[in-house]
Amino acid sequence: MVKKIGSDFNIPLTLFFKRKRKNIPKQAILLASGNDCLTYTIKELKPNTKTKILLPSYLCPSILIPFKEEKVDYSFYRVNKKLEINITDLKNKIKKEKPGIILIIHYFGFIQSKTKEIAKVCEKNKIKLIEDYVQSFLSKPKLQGDYMFNSYRKFLPIPDGAFLIKKTKTKIILNKSPKEYVSKRLKAGLLKNFSFLKNIWRPLFIETEEKLINKYKRPAKMSNISKDLLNRINLREIIHKRRRNYAYLAKHIKPLYPKLNENTCPLGFPIVFKSQTQRDNIRKTLIKNKIYPPIHWELPKEVKENESIDLSNKLLTIPIDQRYNLKDMKRTIKCIRS
Ligand SMILES: Cc1ncc(COP(=O)(O)O)c(C=O)c1O
Repeated sequence: MVKKIGSDFNIPLTLFFKRKRKNIPKQAILLASGNDCLTYTIKELKPNTKTKILLPSYLCPSILIPFKEEKVDYSFYRVNKKLEINITDLKNKIKKEKPGIILIIHYFGFIQSKTKEIAKVCEKNKIKLIEDYVQSFLSKPKLQGDYMFNSYRKFLPIPDGAFLIKKTKTKIILNKSPKEYVSKRLKAGLLKNFSFLKNIWRPLFIETEEKLINKYKRPAKMSNISKDLLNRINLREIIHKRRRNYAYLAKHIKPLYPKLNENTCPLGFPIVFKSQTQRDNIRKTLIKNKIYPPIHWELPKEVKENESIDLSNKLLTIPIDQRYNLKDMKRTIKCIRS
């Protein structure tokens, strides 16, 4: 049988028996998801900050949910077709829109090179800076703004969890860990060890991500089971495998980020195709061959920035995570070339 490449993580049974490590950052507040971290941040900032927020024009639709729920007004600043922040546009929007908060995204494992400069601009204008490390938390994150957060399930085989790290010492009250969401994702992850049970685990994954994730009270705590599993994972090995797979693919196909520097641990291997048709055709071929490349992302309708819309139509992320070896990468290249 051909090995499937991509999609949700199975939770290996052996993980429960691995030795315990210390994978949780010291200063972290552990919450259920990336959006729980955003809700926490908004709730902390709201009483004292003008809550208009500036967001990058390239982002996933789900990130807007906490802002809508907490009634925070938002608009977008530009990022270019290499996903770099357009500082001139950001400064203009600061003048015009007087935001109290700015969010930046470190995409695909690659840290925004102008973060320091942006942090200075924010400090000067009394704006709080949130750094989104959801796609980059294994790339040696360093807090340069006021808040940073991740989402463990994007990189690791655990049901839920995220860290929020911030400059302030204040704490707000947390809700209980979302029991149904966590237990169903745990079940789905464990059953995925058995591919013949696909008609059970696949609907469970879909139910948790499409429904249950927005059905509990935020901000909620990270579950104890995820904390335990997180501490049994060998992160160094994961970083090594992801970097090895990325570097191998990059010898044959040009990614959006051709240079992999020593601190970078990539989320996936993003390729920009010539056109949307070419991207979609190649995606279809890959799926036929049991390789499941996600699209990061179909942008929210509110984004009107042409450069971002164009990129979103042409971008495809090839899976390169720790589950795969060079043989799998060779098969992927062959399939794209064909
Ligand atoms: C860049 C980015 N930020 C935030 C989020 C929200 O994280 P979560 O799904 O854990 O709430 C996502 C989710 O895909 C994301 O990709």
